[in-house]
Order: sequence, then structure tokens, then C-alpha cells
Amino acid sequence: MEVYAHANNSLDGLPSKIREYVQEKITLCQPSSFHVCDGSEQENQELLDAMEQAGVIRRLKKYKNCYIATTDPRDVARVESRTIICTKNMNDVVSTPRSGFPPVTDPNLPKNLKQTPLGNWMDSDEMMEVMEKRFAGCMRGRTLFVIPYMMGPYSSPYSKVAIEITDSPYVVVSMRIMTRMGTQVFKELKVPDGSTVVKCLHSVGVPLPSDKPVCSTWPSNPEQTLITHFPERNEIISFGSGYGGNSLCGKKCLALRIGSSLAKREGWLAEHMLIMSITNPEGVKKYFVAAFPSACGKTNLAMLRPKGLPGYKVECVGDDIAWMHFDEEGRLRAINPEFGFFGVAPGTSKSTNPIALDMVHENTIFTNVAETSDGDVYWEGIDQEIDGLHETLIRSWKNKRWSVDLGEPAAHPNSRFCTSIKQCSILDPEWNNPQGVPIEAIIFGGRRPVGVPLVFESFNWQHGVFVGASMRSESTAAAEFKGKQIMHDPFAMRPFFGYNFGQYLSHWLSFGKKEGLQLPKIYHVNWFLKDSQTNQFLWPGFGENIRVIDWIFRRLTNDSSKKASARKTAIGLIPDQSTSDGIRGGEVNPALLEISNDFWLSECKAIRNYFEENVNENLPKEITLELDALQKRLSQ
Ligand code: GDP
Ligand code: PGA
Ligand code: MN
Ligand code: MN
Repeated sequence: MEVYAHANNSLDGLPSKIREYVQEKITLCQPSSFHVCDGSEQENQELLDAMEQAGVIRRLKKYKNCYIATTDPRDVARVESRTIICTKNMNDVVSTPRSGFPPVTDPNLPKNLKQTPLGNWMDSDEMMEVMEKRFAGCMRGRTLFVIPYMMGPYSSPYSKVAIEITDSPYVVVSMRIMTRMGTQVFKELKVPDGSTVVKCLHSVGVPLPSDKPVCSTWPSNPEQTLITHFPERNEIISFGSGYGGNSLCGKKCLALRIGSSLAKREGWLAEHMLIMSITNPEGVKKYFVAAFPSACGKTNLAMLRPKGLPGYKVECVGDDIAWMHFDEEGRLRAINPEFGFFGVAPGTSKSTNPIALDMVHENTIFTNVAETSDGDVYWEGIDQEIDGLHETLIRSWKNKRWSVDLGEPAAHPNSRFCTSIKQCSILDPEWNNPQGVPIEAIIFGGRRPVGVPLVFESFNWQHGVFVGASMRSESTAAAEFKGKQIMHDPFAMRPFFGYNFGQYLSHWLSFGKKEGLQLPKIYHVNWFLKDSQTNQFLWPGFGENIRVIDWIFRRLTNDSSKKASARKTAIGLIPDQSTSDGIRGGEVNPALLEISNDFWLSECKAIRNYFEENVNENLPKEITLELDALQKRLSQ
């Protein structure tokens, strides 16, 4: 679908500053028509029908209102190398690496781009010029959609109103699932002219008629793709990619990159974290947040169905992003700015994540999953008998007949489901509370096949911030990296920092120095240790992760008769399995709680190197002190 038949072509009713902005972009992008989305069910259905007719999405016969979109194989994940924060001063975004900036070798990237492992920077005026060129006439032959939306609950002091302009109807229907979308969000404006609204501009970057061969069902422009952010102007400009993480600007671009920069200025935290509640068998309830890198288990933990420990209940507030503020009593409160889940499909099955599987059988848009000939979805690890059909009747994400012999997966490893939060059957009663939920523990984690134990507790806030800063994890299919290298991913935020990581650390540390705050305890977990002989996971994971959550829960109690025991090690406090109140619910392979000084000393070396190379003069002295202290404890 290129031109929307029901376009309203009217900007009436938009706040004046928004109207001016949209008018300016219509002039720049030259679309064939434009449409301000009201967010209604009718509009949504018309867009879905039009896309289905045009072959952009396919309806799944087996389910109600479910569709599959398959992308251009070059547009399947976030592109971190082309994601850029643009400001006046470079040091506000990146530090100069000790060995200097690498030369920009890609001819499609601006020459003055500064690329670092902790984010990319360019001068904002210069980037504006680059983007103006890309956007000139870029929507010819298409409809420009204006999407008013809001991140966070209605009537929350913490929510932000935004608009996204896009020429992709896929983006419109996805934003309607992922955010609170429609013109009603303007009622939430604190400044009625719309001058505080975050402005996002997105295009797939393929004006029509096109002189290049393009994928008609998934137009994109991979060579020219740039995902740019202007924190000083509260603007996002995204060109060339239709993939969710690059094109649904509310998610990573606003809620994390612009969000973290707003959070720094306004004194709060915007983090890559799930939000969950845990109720123990006595009915005591606590809320935790957890930061794991993309495709490392956030959605699964947020929807955990406890296994191995009876009487526990887990409920979900959010699975990807937390906006957190300390309230007047000094408690950290978290809201989920999103309204839906954009979850990893592969690995989702009845046994691993039944809650997610149940919720995607209605009103869901799948991207890059495979389809069976009877109109069902299919992906690696779905663990489902394919109802007497042969696998040869599976249509892969590449729209080809698929069989195991092809030696490639049926679904893309980063294939996704996009579903409204309201379809989650274990939604926490407070999920939509404008004041958020009170957080008692912050959990960091990643994919570490060796060396990092199942769980450890930090000694205090400053040490916990160091633990977050030192995170590393195996790369996954969520971004463009090839293979499984262990990458530094501080706070699981490496792809999402909106400002200088050194200043981000100072911001986190500053809460440790404030009077009157009830600081959550900080933990690190690792579900992904492997046996070096068999290459199998040592920990069952998924539902049994409740056994680790239970240990954390019991560490947080003040009642000493109920408090879980812990053993002090160089890296932190770990469960004491020599007592009966360590990790409960079954055997724990001792290898899961081993601390090797040699491993951790080499870890220290890698972390020191990374900080010195990439953060250098912006690294807070507290972090260096923590690293020195860890190294000393390990050498004793
Ligand atoms: P997210 O991207 O951080 O939200 O991660 P997901 O929860 O979507 O999980 C990403 C992948 O990791 C999926 O294939 C999951 O099946 C897998 N995964 C999640 N939790 C666990 C776990 O506890 N153990 C193991 N072995 N795999 C897990
Ligand atoms: P994820 O979200 O963290 O659930 O994978 C998408 C992403 O981070 O790209
Ligand atoms: Mn994410
Ligand atoms: Mn997820």
C-alpha cells in the first residue's frame, strides 16, 4: 500500500507548533497525501486491509486479526553503526577514544561522523543538512502519516507526548500497538501549543517511482539508512529502515536515547529494563527491574511462570523499558512507557513462555516469522508438532518453501511479535498506575557462557553501579553483529545511551550521595553458563529462574529468620548452598556458583582497558576505585 485511500489531508485540530512542524515536513518530503491518525479501530482496520491487499502483510488463517510481515533481508535488525546522537559538543555524547577515532570508511556515512563502541556522534547542524538532503522528496508517491502518541500512562507526571511522521503504514499499525496512540493524547499537553512535544520524522527512504530495484512489499533503503537523535531539540530523524527498532521511534529512539538525555537533565532514569512483581507464598509483594541486553531474556523474565517453587506469583508491568523517578518518600518508582510488546519470537514455546504464546494469537503483527500452510506461525524453538503436516509446507521468512535440509532457519533469529500489553494474562494490577510501582531490586545480567556465576549481590549502591558499568554479554541477532563475541554492554544500554556514558555513570552515582533515598539493592544474574564439555546450559532457566528471584526476594527481607544466607566473595555476595536457605527448589550444580580468581582478574583487565580506551577522562573516580578494590580482593 503506497497511497492511503482515506487520507484526511487536514491539519485542523493539531496544536499550533505541531501544525507548523508537520507543514514544514510536508513541504520537504512532498508526499502525495497526508493523514493525521486518530488511532481509531476503523482507521487501523482500513490500513491493515489496504496493506493486505497490497501484499505487504499476510493474514494468518488460523488466528483472529493476526498478520505476518516479511522484510527486505537487508532490513532485519537495529543498525548500531548507523545510529547517531547529534549535539553541538561532542563530549556531551562520546569521549575521545585513547587511540583516536577510526576513519569513516563507508561512503554512505557522513565523513565527520565520530564512531565509538559506546555510541556515535555528529555535529547537529551538519547532520540536519545531511538529513534534509535525504528527506527532500523522499515521500513522493506515498502518504505521509502523522501519529500523535504518548509514552507512559495517561495523567502521569512522568509521561511524554510525542508525534511521529512516517510514510510507512506498518509503522502506523505497530505504533498503535506499542504506544498510547491517537489525537486524544494532545489533551495531556502541559503546554497547549505543543512546543514541548518530542518530534519524530521517519521515512523508508524510497520515493516513487523508484529508479532502483526495490522490494515492493518492504521498501527500505539500507545504503542510506541513518537513525539520528537531536537531544537538544527533542527531535528524532530516522531514514531508510522499516525495522521496528529503527522505525517505531517511541521505543529505542525516544524512550531510551532521548529519554536518557531528558532523564539526566530532569533528575530521573530511563533504562533498558523490564518491570515485574513477585508475590511470595505469604502474600508479600515486591517489584523488581532487570536490565539484560537485547535478546537476553527480559521478555521471558517479565512473564515468568514459576516452576520448581510452589506458591509464588509473577506479574508483568513491562518487558523492555523502565522510566524511574525517586518519589517524595525517597522510593524509586517505575513506569513502563510502552503499551505493547515487541518480543523475540524464536525460543518462545509452551514450555518456555506460555504467557507470551497465549497472548499472540489475536491482534498481533508478526515480522519475519515463518508460516505453515494451515495459516499458523512457525519459528525455531516453538516446540510444536506441525499438525501432521510436513515441514516442507512451511513458508520461511524469505517467502520460500522451507525444510530443515536447507540449513538455514525458517524464521529470522530476530523475528518478532508485536502485541498489545492488554493481552498479557499476568498483567500486574498496577501496570497503568500514573505514579508507577516501587522498586526494591535492580538486576543486571547477560549471556556469559563462562566465569560469571548464576547470581551475585553487590555490596552497596556504588559497587552496584560498577557492576552495571562492567556488564558484558554475547552478541545476538537483535543488532547487525555477526557471530557470538563477548561484547561490553554497560547497563545493557550500549546501543541506547543518549549522552556520554561517563556522565551517565556520574548520574547513577549521584543517587548514592543523596540523603533520604531508599536505594534498591543491585544484583547480577547469568542464566547462560554452559558446560565446557557438552556446550549445554548448566541452568534450566525460564520458569526455574524463580529460584534465583526467590533468593533475591529473601535477601531483601529485614526479618533475620527469613533472610536468605549469603557468602562473601571478591565479586559480591553469592548464595550459600552449605545452608538450607541458599537457592531453593532443587539441586544447584556447584559450577553455577564458582568464582575463579583468574577469570575475574582477566575480566578486570578487559574492563579497565575498555574504560581507559573509551571513557577515559569522563570516567568517574568512584568507578576506578571500585575496579581497583575488586582487583585487590581478587589478588589477596
Ligand atoms: P529480550 O530480548 O531481552 O526480551 O529477551 P527474550 O526474553 O525475548 O529472550 C531472548 C531469547 O533468549 C529467546 O530465544 C529466549 O527463549 C531465550 N531465553 C530467555 N530466557 C532464557 C533462560 O532463562 N534460559 C535460556 N537458556 N534461554 C533464555
Ligand atoms: P529486546 O527489544 O530488548 O526485547 O530485544 C528490542 C531491542 O532491544 O532491539
Ligand atoms: Mn530492548
Ligand atoms: Mn524483549
